[in-house]
Formats: sequence, C-alpha cells, structure tokens
Amino acid sequence: PHSRRHLVAGNWKMNGNSQLATQMVAALNGQSIDGVDILVCPPSLYLGDFKQADFSLGGQNLSEFASGAHTGEVSASMLLEAGCKYVLVGHSERRTDNHESNDLVAKKVEAALKNGLIPVLCVGEPESIREDGTYFDFISAQLDAVIELVGIAQFAHMVVAYEPVWAIGTGKTASPEQAQEVHKFIRDHIAKGDTDISQKLQILYGGSVKSANAKELFSQPDVDGGLIGGASLDPQEFLNICQAAK
Ligand code: G3P
Repeated sequence: PHSRRHLVAGNWKMNGNSQLATQMVAALNGQSIDGVDILVCPPSLYLGDFKQADFSLGGQNLSEFASGAHTGEVSASMLLEAGCKYVLVGHSERRTDNHESNDLVAKKVEAALKNGLIPVLCVGEPESIREDGTYFDFISAQLDAVIELVGIAQFAHMVVAYEPVWAIGTGKTASPEQAQEVHKFIRDHIAKGDTDISQKLQILYGGSVKSANAKELFSQPDVDGGLIGGASLDPQEFLNICQAAK
C-alpha cells in the first residue's frame, strides 16, 4: 500500500555469544528479501564476529559523549568503526533499568546523528499508562524531547520503534489494530512538523513479535517492520520474521 521499505531488526539484548553470531551470519547472508532490510543488534562485544555479514549491524545503546572518562560506555564513533549503521536509542529497558530520561535519550540521538549512525528511537508506554488511556500524551512527550533538541528535519535520518512496554517479553502482543493506531499517531505527530519526512519515516513495531504474528502486524499501513527481541535469537525464526515483512 505504501512505498516505504521494511526493516526487520533483531535486538539480542544481553543474550547470545560468538557462536550464535557465526550461526546468524551463516543463516542470513545471501538472503535478499524484496523490499526488506535486515538489521542485527548484538551486544557490542560481538560486533566483530559479524565482519562477514551482508546485512546491517547496530548497537543497542551509545554514550551521549564523544569520548573521554566514561568507564563502561561505548561511543558512536566506536560503533561506526565496528561496522554499525544503526543504533538503538531509548529502549524501554534502558529507560527503566538505567534511568534514561527523555532528555538523555534526545542527547544520545544527537550523538548518533553527529556520527552518521541512524538512531532507532524507541518509544512506548508502560501498562499503567495504557490502562489510564493517556498513551498518546506519553508518546508525544518522548518524541517531543527529541524533536526539540535535534529538529524535525533529522527525522529524515532516523527510524522510530514503537514498543509498548506491556508487550515486551510478555508474549502479549499488541493487536494489529492497537499497533496501527499508535503508528499512525506517531506519523501524524511527525507530519505536524514535516509531512514529507513523516511519509518516509520507517516506524517499527516491537513487543512479542514471532513468525506466527509478524505478517498481520507488518501488513498494517503504518507498520514498516519490526524490532524483535526473543525471537531474534533463533536464526531460522528470525529469518521467517524477515520474510514475513515482504
Ligand atoms: O527491542 C525488542 C523488544 O523489546 C521486544 O522484545 O522479546 O518481546 O520480542 P520481545
């Protein structure tokens, strides 16, 4: 129905090892799927095991700083040098576990953009916000912090992922209608700043996507692919999900 390419991204989170990296490269290399780009975001320690990959790589997080005395952090330029094209920013687990605020997430988006990495900006509401019905306001605030810092024009170089927190790792997927409702809301929100950019923006859905429900989700008009957690750890299952995005 639309001309946007689809993107299917695997977020390994703190899972996997070198052996899985090798298996993933073997399973995915040479699989060109019409209209679909494939992205794998392993723990940064394993990026080097993907040197032979013919698909895209991404980090799971980056520092808001360029370099310096920030023990344990990884910079945008390091991710770039390790072969990354993308980086996840503001995943709900980091917002919760590492107390990443909307403002910090915006700074990380800026750091990624400055280095030519494509930020995959993750947004989405927790269960309590879904239940009290204020999720549009919640998601607007997450987007606005980024729009205010980097400007709407930068969304031409970004991807947005909608991940309702209540659907992450719970087996409780948003229905295709629930996903489409929020994806359209996000696109309309960006359109208030720039219609052309909003039409080109890839918006991914994340939260308990599996090969069994992927096709229905990905066929929604404003769903341009997925961000896959648990199911991205199994090469064949992940490949099946990528194929469902055709
Ligand atoms: O970033 C992907 C994610 O949070 C979804 O995880 O395991 O529900 O697919 P999962």
